[in-house]
Amino acid sequence: MGTQFDLRQTDHLLTTTRAVRKRLDLDRPVPLELIGECIKIATQAPAGSNIQRWRWMVVTDPAKKAAVADLYRKAYAPYIDMQRDAVKEAGRTDAGRIMESSDHLANVLDRVPAIVIPCQLGRLRPDQSNQEISGYFGSVIPAVWNFMLAARSRGLGTAWTTLHLKYELEVADILGIPHSVTQVALTPLAYYTGDDFKVASRLPVEKVTYLNEWKHGLDGQPN
Ligand SMILES: Cc1cc2nc3c(=O)[nH]c(=O)nc-3n(C[C@H](O)[C@H](O)[C@H](O)COP(=O)(O)O)c2cc1C
Repeated sequence: MGTQFDLRQTDHLLTTTRAVRKRLDLDRPVPLELIGECIKIATQAPAGSNIQRWRWMVVTDPAKKAAVADLYRKAYAPYIDMQRDAVKEAGRTDAGRIMESSDHLANVLDRVPAIVIPCQLGRLRPDQSNQEISGYFGSVIPAVWNFMLAARSRGLGTAWTTLHLKYELEVADILGIPHSVTQVALTPLAYYTGDDFKVASRLPVEKVTYLNEWKHGLDGQPN
């Protein structure tokens, strides 16, 4: 017996939900009811004391999407120049593909059917403790990831981005978001083209997991 889940399906969802940039279908509208459905699932996520300070800003208005995308691009340009230099120095091979894909997203962001900006009521003060910071973001980020998983399982692509936050208040003014509200991320939302996504390469579990003692692997040996 055991679990009621089809692990093949759930593991596939969890291991292949990628940042979708080049495969966003810019021409196929996304029904608002479907976005609402994803948000309904998202809000089953945990939140500290179950306070649910998350708010979901869905942007479909073409002029507003264009204005937000302009600010994203304004933040993106200097960031990616810096990244290009850093990557060249580090000799990374996977980075060219990520950058090409990121360039594409920056270029088409105004044309995606919807931009979703998850928000959290309130703002942290610069002097707040790690406990408070973790509690604050930990009460919204799981919901955002839930949203992305729900989207993916309905054929919708998302990509976690944070660059627009450099101009968070300008974006707030475009959308009427009070300055007392924190924007947490920004994701494009569109049907994805093509069939499926692949499992990505990640650091091996043995390299990132310790048992009982820092830098001791699950086999108990130092690693
Ligand atoms: C906190 C965070 C911030 C990110 N910011 C951006 C961003 O501003 N622009 C972008 O194109 N991708 C952004 N990404 C996406 C990452 O580049 C992507 O998740 C990573 O390369 C791994 O690829 P995968 O999600 O397809 O496995 C961000 C991801 C996270 C988690």
